[in-house]
Amino acid sequence: MSKGSTKTVRVAIAGVTGYTGETLLRILERHPGVELVGVSSESRAGEKLSQIVPWLPARLDQPVVHAADLYDRGLDAVFLCLPHGESAARAKAFVERGVRVIDLSADFRLPDRELYEEWYRVTHPAPELLSEAVYGLPEFYRDQVRQAGLVANPGCYPTSVLLPLLPLLQEGLVAEDGVIVDAKSGLSGAGKKLRERMHFVEANDNFSPYSPGRTHRHVPEMETYLTQAAGRPVRLTFVPHLVPMDRGILSTIYVRLARGSADDVVKTWQATYADEPFVRVLEDALPETKWVTGTNLCLLAARPAGPGQAVLFSAIDNLVKGASGQAVQNFNLMFGFNEGTAL
Ligand SMILES: NC(=O)c1ccc[n+]([C@@H]2O[C@H](COP(=O)([O-])OP(=O)(O)OC[C@H]3O[C@@H](n4cnc5c(N)ncnc54)[C@H](OP(=O)(O)O)[C@@H]3O)[C@@H](O)[C@H]2O)c1
Repeated sequence: MSKGSTKTVRVAIAGVTGYTGETLLRILERHPGVELVGVSSESRAGEKLSQIVPWLPARLDQPVVHAADLYDRGLDAVFLCLPHGESAARAKAFVERGVRVIDLSADFRLPDRELYEEWYRVTHPAPELLSEAVYGLPEFYRDQVRQAGLVANPGCYPTSVLLPLLPLLQEGLVAEDGVIVDAKSGLSGAGKKLRERMHFVEANDNFSPYSPGRTHRHVPEMETYLTQAAGRPVRLTFVPHLVPMDRGILSTIYVRLARGSADDVVKTWQATYADEPFVRVLEDALPETKWVTGTNLCLLAARPAGPGQAVLFSAIDNLVKGASGQAVQNFNLMFGFNEGTAL
């Protein structure tokens, strides 16, 4: 990690009324190198930020503006907490002005325009920027993130799946076929927009699968980076579930071992993550979502299963390591702060 920087970076948050935008406010509030010079919402523009976020410290209060009104504020960096499809067009306007962008949406996570348009069913608003976007999983792309003008912050499920699987595929420990991911998420993973299945009466006291097999939009993102690590195509079976809790993801991953045992999985993780501040390997316990709530941690564990098989466990807070915390981790790298500042 670099020594802490003493400079002040002029920052804005686009999409401050959403869950990831508000989580960013909580983290940036304690960042000594950030001056928050703009916040946007399309539906609440014109209001004071404290009307929307009553817990806000007075020094951060300011008028909420439309995203387009952030373009010419002399920003150094902007966090885009917007829906996919909306984010890319905004990103382009900021990049053109020399503002470094950390995009929390999916718009720049897939390097291939056709793949994006097939899965997200929108025309990519800025395909010319895809080649310069860096995938912001710091544990694997740290050097590229430091230099990046545009960071594609990973999805929440992909973060919980890539951190356990990438080193194992890189080392040839896990077979690239037959990987099954059984993932569970709290409801904030779906954002604030109202949908029937997110209503209290539908979600409370309930546990339901959705987008099973190979239909969830995070499948191509996970397969893209797993395939790069393995050097051969990796195909997943991925079944996400909604769990009646506010936040947190627990992914249970069933793999065939190409060699070695569950102990070798643990040793590989320990070697890979020995110097990583936010990935911890548990040996005597299995990860639980409450242990990571409000933190930027990813907890990992592995256990033997049938012959030649292992089961892996990974827990993160979807709003922190799965979104806004990881975004600040990337921001810290980009601007030369200690990587853990404010996290
Ligand atoms: N929630 C998670 O766990 C999570 C994790 C990783 C990544 N992400 C991604 O991060 C992004 C934000 O997620 P979120 O959960 O914070 O979503 P959210 O709670 O639904 O908030 C979305 C934000 O976007 C703004 N917005 C909506 N439509 C807009 C438009 N047409 N133009 C400009 N702004 C618009 C909303 O503001 P107004 O409605 O007030 O205008 C709101 O501030 C999404 O792309 C999501 O996929 C989310």
